[in-house]
Amino acid sequence: MDNRETTDLPRRKVVLAGIGAAGVVAALAACGSSGGSTNGSAPADNSNGTDSSGGDSGSPDGGDTSGGGGSAAPIKIADVPAGGGAVFAEQNVVVTQPTAGTFKAFSATCTHQGCQVNRVQNGTIDCPCHGSQYSITDGSVKTGPAPRPLAGKTVTVNGDTLTIS
Ligand code: FES
Repeated sequence: MDNRETTDLPRRKVVLAGIGAAGVVAALAACGSSGGSTNGSAPADNSNGTDSSGGDSGSPDGGDTSGGGGSAAPIKIADVPAGGGAVFAEQNVVVTQPTAGTFKAFSATCTHQGCQVNRVQNGTIDCPCHGSQYSITDGSVKTGPAPRPLAGKTVTVNGDTLTIS
């Protein structure tokens, strides 16, 4: 019985030593994580650093890439029906395909009072505000009160997409 107790003691010491070591590791980890959370609890520093450095360095590169795309994001040819067209409101453009394979693009801003045209049907681009209608072929006024044709834009075909500029 005595032997067992003496035998157990060293084991407990080893176990305790192990816990102690683990405790130290845990304490170090806690310090590390608390330090991390301290950094994390200062989001203003992090966001400012990210915005100023990442934003500045990212903008020129992104601007070149998406700048071409931002002002003239590619439009899928499949979205522009032959013999008709479609309004791309976010880009404020109307793209038409008067005859198969021929694409035209115009500003979607009505020349009457500046509403955005919202529909292409029956060969015309229609404004919802006062009923002006423009030709899908050249943007000319088919029905007033619009005083002028829609402003034309350049269409570039790139495979199965169109770039408007
Ligand atoms: Fe388009 Fe008046 S703004 S018809």
